[in-house]
Amino acid sequence: MIVKVSVDNSLKKYFMHQAFLEAYRALGTTGKNPNVGCVLVKNNFVIGRARTSPGGRPHAEENLISQMSKKELKGSSLFVTLEPCAHKGVNGISCADLISKSGIKEIYVSNLDPDLRTSGKGFEVLRKSRINVYPNFLINEGFNYNIGYFKNFSSNRPLVTLKFAISLDGKIALKNKKSKWISSKLSRNFGHMLRAQSDGIMTTSTTVKDDNPKLTCRLNGLEKYSPLKIIVDRELQLNDSFSIFKNSNSTKLIVYHNSNNKSKIKNYPQNADLVYIKNKKNFLLFILKDLSNRKIKNLLIESGATFGSEMIKANLIDQIAFFRSDKIIGNDGLPFVKNLNLKTMSNSLNMKLIDFKIFDKDIYELRRF
Ligand SMILES: NC(=O)c1ccc[n+]([C@@H]2O[C@H](COP(=O)([O-])OP(=O)(O)OC[C@H]3O[C@@H](n4cnc5c(N)ncnc54)[C@H](OP(=O)(O)O)[C@@H]3O)[C@@H](O)[C@H]2O)c1
Repeated sequence: MIVKVSVDNSLKKYFMHQAFLEAYRALGTTGKNPNVGCVLVKNNFVIGRARTSPGGRPHAEENLISQMSKKELKGSSLFVTLEPCAHKGVNGISCADLISKSGIKEIYVSNLDPDLRTSGKGFEVLRKSRINVYPNFLINEGFNYNIGYFKNFSSNRPLVTLKFAISLDGKIALKNKKSKWISSKLSRNFGHMLRAQSDGIMTTSTTVKDDNPKLTCRLNGLEKYSPLKIIVDRELQLNDSFSIFKNSNSTKLIVYHNSNNKSKIKNYPQNADLVYIKNKKNFLLFILKDLSNRKIKNLLIESGATFGSEMIKANLIDQIAFFRSDKIIGNDGLPFVKNLNLKTMSNSLNMKLIDFKIFDKDIYELRRF
């Protein structure tokens, strides 16, 4: 006797969560492409899983199909975080075409691809091949795994995350600007993970001069995922003696400036791409637009309160990652946000809690505007 097992909704949600985990594992590694995850299910078991390859190709679905046998694929269900592409890759075939020819019988997709080469067209190809398509499955949760990619399409700028190690009383450094170390080693390691998951990391000339940071990811095995370094240095005050220039991998780093003093340009190393922004008023917005054009989807900012506050006031910060330690520094320490000159409580800025974790004696909080 053949027992027909129906996959109930909670099980389907579990499978899509497995696909989300795959997408999360690829965050920060896929270049200009979205980080997509997928799992293949048969008889209520996950029989295969894959994600977008480093650099963005092959896509997740191609990676998955290539590791399965014809027999395994026949009659299976695919759970994928983003609509399969309808545009052809280097192999001359799109993921929608690959799936159509694979024997997969149904597909659950979390989000529509905003890329016009695919948007809706991937679903069309699949439906024409008589595959049952279930779009918008856990759409809101799925959105979070590719939020920077979607932001680039909707607002022509990256998702911007400000990162602060703060004391229990909300300070980022002592009065004398010393800040090593406010947070625990475990927190700092996760900070490096955030770097690896970002496409770009931005800081200021002031923080470079004060802290001389390297801004690389120094977790074993993840060094190669160090993000593109970006420095806001309006008056071209830096020079190649700072560590940030020395520890750059082969990729360039970008310096945004507003200086007409061309003689200072020679102080910068060859791999620094000096970008002059004429418009002083919209300087910060122009930086984000330029980064979006360079396909930076997720931008991490590690600066002090002056720059962070300017970005917040310009409505250019989407979320803040706080590493709150157990130390009390006192009111003479440097705050993470400067004066906002609010007159009523209703004008205060509110940040939703998105995620929290405990790292040793610290609490990590991700909050979003
Ligand atoms: N605990 C932490 O997580 C953490 C992280 C990073 C840094 N810090 C600490 O923060 C301290 C530095 O803080 P800070 O407030 O003095 O400096 P900051 O916020 O890092 O940087 C100030 C810089 O922002 C630029 N700037 C200000 N307004 C701007 C605008 N509207 N458009 C473009 N650029 C603008 C200024 O550029 P110009 O020079 O061109 O005016 C200046 O260089 C350091 O001592 C460091 O230890 C702590």
